[in-house]
This record gives sequence, structure tokens and C-alpha cells, in this order.
Amino acid sequence: MPDNSFDVIVLGAGAAGLMCAAQAGARGRRVLVLERAQEPGKKILISGGGRCNFTNVHTAPDRFISANPHFAKSALSRYTPHDFLGLVVAHGIAWHEKTLGQLFCDGSARQIVEMLLDECAKSGVMIACGEDVANVEHRGAGFTVTASARTVEAVSLVIATGGPSIPKMGATGFAYELARLFGLKVVEPRPALVPLTLGGEDVLFRDLSGVATPVEARCGKASFHEAALFTHRGLSGPAILQVSSYWQRGKAVEIDFLPGERFGWLVAAKQANPRATLRSVLRNAMPQRLADALADRIGIEGPLANAADAVLHQAEKRLADWQFHPNGTEGFAKAEVTVGGISTAELSSKTMEAKRVPGLFAVGEAVDVTGWLGGYNFQWAWASGWAAGQTA
Ligand code: FDA
Repeated sequence: MPDNSFDVIVLGAGAAGLMCAAQAGARGRRVLVLERAQEPGKKILISGGGRCNFTNVHTAPDRFISANPHFAKSALSRYTPHDFLGLVVAHGIAWHEKTLGQLFCDGSARQIVEMLLDECAKSGVMIACGEDVANVEHRGAGFTVTASARTVEAVSLVIATGGPSIPKMGATGFAYELARLFGLKVVEPRPALVPLTLGGEDVLFRDLSGVATPVEARCGKASFHEAALFTHRGLSGPAILQVSSYWQRGKAVEIDFLPGERFGWLVAAKQANPRATLRSVLRNAMPQRLADALADRIGIEGPLANAADAVLHQAEKRLADWQFHPNGTEGFAKAEVTVGGISTAELSSKTMEAKRVPGLFAVGEAVDVTGWLGGYNFQWAWASGWAAGQTA
């Protein structure tokens, strides 16, 4: 086989591309990975605060957002968190479970990159970094790829160039350009797992910058019990990042500031201590600055004994269903992932191959499948990369 000819070319040495390459290589395929950056796996290296939240033991299809909620089922069921953990353990990488089923390295995210590179090396995969892919052509049964320093060809081409989140790391919408070149539809991409910005009346909450509290945040049918954080631009923290993936312009985000309380708790507080005020009761339940801001806005002054039960019930309802109207997000610059991408309608859910372009595959964040916060996005990268690697 000539030096510039391969069975499989994988574009992008990120999580999905490296997994796919190692799998295809293990099947005896001659694989080349082309990576624009000077080193592979840059997003893995910065993930999970440098410790890589590499999977989540609660992985299930309902924790992924896609125009087709069934699409991810096949790949996720064939390559599970257990399978990835098996690889981690086989490579002697120490790990631990944090909260909510999130698995992290004890040491460094670099161990995950090294593990993937080891797997690629074992399978004879070639990885070329500093190779910005400029042009791709489909000729006959194969693909010709022109990158910075070479022109190469292969029977199979895997798009694993990720999404446009964090452009300062070199992320772009290149996957979508390629998909469109081949006539594949793209679901409008938008930033996800991203802080929301507040304007209008909500802007007053920016004074609370730095205050964090456990809440239930809701957007449409999605709801998350985690911490919310007020920022100088709006709202952040895990609960908000989670709902941001479901949020669209014009929609409200509802926050329950006291998710542990049952209806009637404020009336019960009045009965227990008639001289207590709304402010004092809230101060016992949440950070003082937040308690004061909410009490000011609700406006029940003086001892609770002076307030009718119906008024207290109204206050409870407001605290359980506080309506924020974000005016935007902090955009791709701050988004951990992208919602939308190459339409799943174009791909086989079993192999990730384009139905209309035999030999063309798409995996990972480039595809319209987006996981919750907490290791789900890497699990999708591993599972979709693995699925493509069995066929490409
Ligand atoms: P990924 O972006 O990893 O890889 C794409 C590769 O393609 C990159 O290396 C890029 O340089 C390359 N490329 C792009 N264009 C190219 C071109 N034209 N030519 C050649 N190469 C090109 N998820 C999770 O589950 N747990 C976590 O802890 C975190 N933490 C986290 C932190 C931060 C700050 C961010 C931004 C994101 C996360 N994520 C995460 C999300 C996770 O990083 C993301 O879902 C995966 O990296 C997606 O893997 P992919 O392989 O699809 O894309």
C-alpha cells in the first residue's frame, strides 16, 4: 500500500477520534489520524478540572439531548461506562466516584490521553499532529484529504473534529462544513452547558455575584437538583449549566430556592415562631445575601404572625417557582459542549456511517447528541467512536 493510502482516515485526535482509531486499528485496518493541534486530546487534558470526569455510571439515553432521542441508544448500550472503566483499570489508572455517579481520575486527565494513545499505538495507528485539514474530496469509492503537510486517501473517513465550544482552544464548526459538503443536514448548533445571562428586572440579581445555593432548576420538562451560582453576568453553577442545554431564547428558567420544603412550610414556620420574619426564616435556609434579596422582592414585612396564610402560600409558591428570563448565554466561548450538530437522521445509529455517503462516518460532539454535565459527553464520545471503529 502506498504511504499516502490508508483504510481509514480519522479527522481529529480528540476523545471520539482516538477511540475510533484504536478500534479500527485493532481490526487490522491501516489508520491515520489527522489532528490540527500540536498535541492530541487537548479537551481531555482540561476536562474535569484537570482530572477528567471520564464517564458516568448512570449513563442512560434520557441523559442525552438530540432531535432523535432514540439515536444514542444503540451505541450507548454496546459500549458502556463499565467497558470504559475496564480499560481505565487495565491501564492501572486510579479513579474515584464523586457525586451523582461521576467517575474521575485520582491523578491527571493526561493519563486518559496516554491510555488512548497506548491503545492506538498497540493497533498500529499513525497520528499526525499540526495537520489542519483544508480540503476533502470524495472520489469513486474513496476520500482524498488535503492537510497542512500531506495529501492522503482512504476508503473510510471519520469526522471527529468536535463542536465549536471554546474557540480559543481551536474549536470550530469544521465538522458541519464537511457534513454540508457531503449534503448531510446539520441541526442548528447552539452553546450548551453554558452560563445564562440576565437582563431586564432580573439584572438586579447580578448584585448577588458569588452567591451559590442548592436549588431545583427547571426549563420545560427538564429539572436538576444541584447548585446554582449568581455571577456578574447572570446565572451559572451545575444546575444552571444543565438547564442551559434545554433553554432557548424566549423560554423562562424556573428556580425552586427551597427544593427540600413541602407546601405549607412557611405557614408551619409562622405557627412554630409567630415573631419570625420572612427574612429571618430565609436566612436560616440559604446564604444571607440571597435571603435578603428574595425577601425584599416578596415584600412581606414584619412578623409572620401578621401575614395571612394565603399570603404566605403565595410567597412559598413564588420561592418554589421563581421565574428568570435569561436574555442569552455566555456563548460558545464559555460553553462546555454544543447542542445540535450533524443530524442523526443522516447516520446509522449502529455504525455512525452516513446513510447516503458510504464510507463517511461522524462521531462525538460533531453529531447532534449532547449529554448532561457529569461525564456523559465523554461516554458519548467513547461509545460513538467505538461504534464507528467496528465498521470504518
Ligand atoms: P474534541 O473536541 O475532543 O476533539 C476534536 C479534535 O478535532 C480536536 O483535537 C481538534 O483540535 C480537532 N480538529 C478540529 N478541527 C480540525 C481540523 N480542521 N483538522 C484536524 N483536526 C481538527 N465532558 C465530560 O464528559 N467530562 C468532563 O469532565 C468534561 N469537561 C470539560 C471541560 C471543558 C472546559 C470543556 C470545554 C469540555 C468538557 N467536556 C467534558 C466535554 C468534552 O470535552 C467533549 O464532549 C469531548 O471532548 C468531545 O469529544 P470529541 O472527540 O467529539 O471532540
